[in-house]
Amino acid sequence: MEKLIKGIPKAELHLHIEGSLEPELMFELAERNGVELPYSSVEEVRQAYQFSDLQSFLDIYYAGAGVLQQTEDFYDLTWAYLERMHSEHVRHVEIFFDPQTHTDRGISINTVITGIYNALDDAREQFGITSFLILCFLRHLSEESALATLEAALPFRDWIEGIGLDSSEVGFPPENFERAFARAAENGLRKVAHAGEEGPPEYIWQALDLLGVSRIDHGVRCTEDQKLVQRLVQKQMPLTVCPLSNIKLRVFDKMADHNLKKMLDQGIRVTINSDDPAYFGGYMIDNFLATQKGLNLSEQDIVEIAKNGFRSSFLPQDIIDSHLKSIDEFVLQQRNSS
Ligand code: ADE
Ligand code: ZN
Repeated sequence: MEKLIKGIPKAELHLHIEGSLEPELMFELAERNGVELPYSSVEEVRQAYQFSDLQSFLDIYYAGAGVLQQTEDFYDLTWAYLERMHSEHVRHVEIFFDPQTHTDRGISINTVITGIYNALDDAREQFGITSFLILCFLRHLSEESALATLEAALPFRDWIEGIGLDSSEVGFPPENFERAFARAAENGLRKVAHAGEEGPPEYIWQALDLLGVSRIDHGVRCTEDQKLVQRLVQKQMPLTVCPLSNIKLRVFDKMADHNLKKMLDQGIRVTINSDDPAYFGGYMIDNFLATQKGLNLSEQDIVEIAKNGFRSSFLPQDIIDSHLKSIDEFVLQQRNSS
């Protein structure tokens, strides 16, 4: 099982690049940029990562992002993540970034996007990892701010595949961002949104019906509404589930309580992703391993989930097909060698 999980070709569709900032790099960048950190060591930082809910995490996550100041900082952050993905047999990534976290403290969107994009470009060349960038609006800020962020990003339209919606969920429903999402669609951008992580099923309905998203990020609270489950199954609407994140943020008490297997068995298109791996204790392989163990997933479940990652991506269909074929080939080769 471990060999299967480690080697199977994977796609990651739910990763906040700011959430891949490891404490070691945080210290290095703090020194590079002369930023004072409220921690004296890497160990102290790790000890601070005990969260009671989404907001308790976000407070620390936004503070950590303060060390990111120059193009090369965003490059180094993204490159470290991609090197890790290369070692984990991740072949395609769709990465979120939060421009407002940086522009609100005086960093230009040009600095942010250029650093991230250059690393994606180099990884395409050196590792053959393909990638898309998804610009996320912070939902605790206003729709006007989201619209202004979108306008500021349009000169980089060719580097951006889609838009998303993240940050504090409860009290900030998707309906607040209808105009911003419509404006993004006018520019041919794809749409996704975090919904049903801590927020109610109603937020998932809104993301589908008012924002017109083509994936739901998290979405685990869908199982509270059987009509919604039916809709997700019928449309084969992907959910980008992040199991270790859900445990760290107390959405579920322990992995054995997670509803991922239940959703999969109901026919929902479930994928496994890492969300903010530097904060939640694991990248893609760790998420697959912990979920398999906690929910006793079969080899067939793992293959299906890995395939769902590519099926739910924004890659062209012929490329998706070639990844699905390479999964089948990998599984066959594994069987023959054991
Ligand atoms: N930003 C980074 N991680 C997030 C999460 N899990 N939910 C909402 N916003 C986020
Ligand atoms: Zn997320």
